[in-house]
Amino acid sequence: MTEPGGLATPRAAPETRRAARAMREEAERRARATASVPAVTPSGPLSTAPLSPVLSPTPPPVTGTARPSAATRRAARAAQLLDADEQTPAPHHAGPRRVTRRIAVIAGLGVGAVLLMGSAAMTAMMLPAASDGGADAALSLRAQPPTIEQLPVPQMEQSPPSADICTIPEISAALQAGDDEAVIIAAGGGEAFRAAVVDGRAPCIDLGDSARTWTVIDKVRPANPIDYRPAGLLSPPGVRNLEGGALRTDAASALASLAAAAQSAGAGEIALESGFRSYETQQETYGRHHSERGEGADQVSARPGYSEHQLGLSADVVACAGACGTLDELAGSPQGQWIAAHAWEHGWIVRYVEGATPVTGYLPEPWHLRYVGPELAKAYHDGGWTSLEEFFALPPAPAYVG
Ligand code: DAL
Ligand code: ZN
Repeated sequence: MTEPGGLATPRAAPETRRAARAMREEAERRARATASVPAVTPSGPLSTAPLSPVLSPTPPPVTGTARPSAATRRAARAAQLLDADEQTPAPHHAGPRRVTRRIAVIAGLGVGAVLLMGSAAMTAMMLPAASDGGADAALSLRAQPPTIEQLPVPQMEQSPPSADICTIPEISAALQAGDDEAVIIAAGGGEAFRAAVVDGRAPCIDLGDSARTWTVIDKVRPANPIDYRPAGLLSPPGVRNLEGGALRTDAASALASLAAAAQSAGAGEIALESGFRSYETQQETYGRHHSERGEGADQVSARPGYSEHQLGLSADVVACAGACGTLDELAGSPQGQWIAAHAWEHGWIVRYVEGATPVTGYLPEPWHLRYVGPELAKAYHDGGWTSLEEFFALPPAPAYVG
């Protein structure tokens, strides 16, 4: 049977249920017969602690002269659950809770088997086919323990790295060299880099460093220094440049790559309308919006010192078909649709999108592209992120402070 999501529904095999009954009877017999069952050290390899939350906290009462150990009660309880399960018709689609219970039952049987049958049964339970047929395997192998060659090599689950990524020599070297993309690759890629930053495992990564591709600048995170100016500005080669603007060199070649790809895909020509804007230029730009809209300017234009354009990493682009359209016309053009789907493939994200205004403080700007580099752009796209603030788990920046 298959879950709607494609998961197989575990249903105990008849042999397993027979084995469970046998085990339950054995457990009950032992519970009556003896008051002392070998104790299980909670911290030892047979610890049952992870199973406890899914098993009943109230074990069934046991009659007799002595109360059996918790582990024996769990084994008996597991067998009882499986018995009850046997009498209940299985639904077509067992829900997660039911699956969890069955897993708990099988796991409980594993614990019971360990206690009742000793080490031979324990090794049997470790064999690969131990899901539905685990108890059966345990019983049949009781008389014939596996040889050492038959024992599986334990597979340790891959856990996320817990170490400070800044201790990785390649990261230190790439940081020193100013090669941001190499830093991210050395961290394991965009998502691994993001996770390290968010988890506090990247103390050498400063999201406030205006010279880095990962920098976040918004209404509560100004450029550093406030009149920051990037080194090495370039007009994107092969891209129509409406105002003679420039971008940081890495962003300039990435915009050229994006525009060429859009042409090749048949989406049409993309031109640069506005690239780097200095602190002084942004004063003029914001001042113009402010004189037109008053306080409403803050939703469409950054104050000087707070614009991504000041980093040289942002490009306002338009669609051209002979003549070029306006910024507002981009979204409705083939170029705008192509950008929304493919800009990330060239290291760009659309920075201000529908629905993210409470986080960014800006109305959607489908034309405003932000270069973050191929690794981060891929992680951003793959993760379905809609703001850099959320991507890096930063508090939202809907308004200026003070
Ligand atoms: N229009 C964007 C928010 C800027 O001025 O940087
Ligand atoms: Zn812009």
